[in-house]
Amino acid sequence: FHLKEDFPQDFLWGASTSAFQVEGAANEDGKGLTVADLRSQKSKYLDTSVGVDHYHHIEEDVALMAKLGLKSYRFSISWARIFPNGNDQEPNQKGIAFYNKLINLLVENKIEPIVTLFHFDCPVGIIKEYGGWSNRQAISDYYRYAKTVLELFGDRVKYWLTINEQSLIANVPAMNGITDSDKHQLRQKGENSNYYMFLAQAKVYALCHKLYPESKIGPAVSYMTNFPYDHTSANALKSKSMEDMISFIDMDVALRGELPSYYKRYLLDSNIELDVQDGDEQILQNGKANFLGLNWYSTSVFKLSQEQSPKMLDGVISNVEKVRDDRLMNSEWDFSYDPVGLRFALQKVNDRYPNIPIIITECGWPEREELEEGKVHDTKRIKYLNGHIYELREAIKDGVNVISFNPWSFLDLLSVNDGMDKRYGLVFVNRDNYAEKDLVRYPKDSYYFYQKVIATNAQNV
Ligand code: BG6
Repeated sequence: FHLKEDFPQDFLWGASTSAFQVEGAANEDGKGLTVADLRSQKSKYLDTSVGVDHYHHIEEDVALMAKLGLKSYRFSISWARIFPNGNDQEPNQKGIAFYNKLINLLVENKIEPIVTLFHFDCPVGIIKEYGGWSNRQAISDYYRYAKTVLELFGDRVKYWLTINEQSLIANVPAMNGITDSDKHQLRQKGENSNYYMFLAQAKVYALCHKLYPESKIGPAVSYMTNFPYDHTSANALKSKSMEDMISFIDMDVALRGELPSYYKRYLLDSNIELDVQDGDEQILQNGKANFLGLNWYSTSVFKLSQEQSPKMLDGVISNVEKVRDDRLMNSEWDFSYDPVGLRFALQKVNDRYPNIPIIITECGWPEREELEEGKVHDTKRIKYLNGHIYELREAIKDGVNVISFNPWSFLDLLSVNDGMDKRYGLVFVNRDNYAEKDLVRYPKDSYYFYQKVIATNAQNV
């Protein structure tokens, strides 16, 4: 038998971030406003104007990546830094210069860039002009943006991610700046935006294969692993259908090139009609991903209930309740430490799409943290990383084709829901929700642990 016995020598040990969560400089050098900046203006603490000021710290930040030994770095390009309104006549040269500099620094340091094209930050220009992703026009504007970026950086970037957690932004349309006072209309718009995002990505997959046949392009999927509260089939079916609707839908369309039947049934049952036009089927068939990016954090337990539904799934999945498993270590924000779940989840993906290359694009542990004499003793994060890397090796030994692991996050950044209160970084950044402070970077204990993982190809795990 030819099964791998360990992490391959060329395994890409990485780390992950996204543009609006780290860059800051939200209004600098010609960048346009994004929906994430708008949310920031309304929130007390999601301060995208400064973020963790990565925009002005890239030399220092890449030097810290190099010292850590990173083999890959997963980050996102802000659409509105390239096309400030999303669809301007000409791209913004200063935005291009910033990403050129970042990519060149990475390449000089032998760090493979893994680039997300769209991570929760739709340009406000196209939202105001025509409703953004709720309008078919977004397909061509996203395609044009992606083509520009692929042509500019594709000589140095070999791994591309099209859209981060599409199912989340489709199910929470406000994250794409899509609103409607009528609940059904909002779902209708959300599902159409989902459909347009599928079409846009298929076109970009096909383009990338044509321009760079050696490169890899795929979605960054929010991959939930759900377990039923008890052994009843009804609970098991419910937790499976949540996985289908949140996670497998994005993988199925990307790899099989068609909408899955469970999704079509959901649309019919919900009385939602997609804007399907002639030629769409062909577009989906002709553009498929050649790897999967998976954002995986933990397992969840669900049971049927009459009253509650998890907030993000409202309207999509109803009558379910998330149950906390107190036997596991739980974070303050209600997610658990369950590393065997990662091996289980990876086996499931490999069963469904045998041998598909997989990049873990996110995986991480949140904590409320403070500096103690210049140090952060993040023992729970070390435990989390150790457990997940151990199980990752087990999955590789099972025959799963994982090629890269990029924990969330390289450095502390703005959490989508909790700003700087909820830190995920290997590197501490000295600012908090309400004070910018000096933004000095301090490697945490987990940074040094991960440094050893990379140096020994995980022989310390
Ligand atoms: C993923 C996103 O959903 O989860 C990240 O891709 C996000 O952008 C991460 O930061 C964690 O969520 P939160 O709300 O804790 O930041």
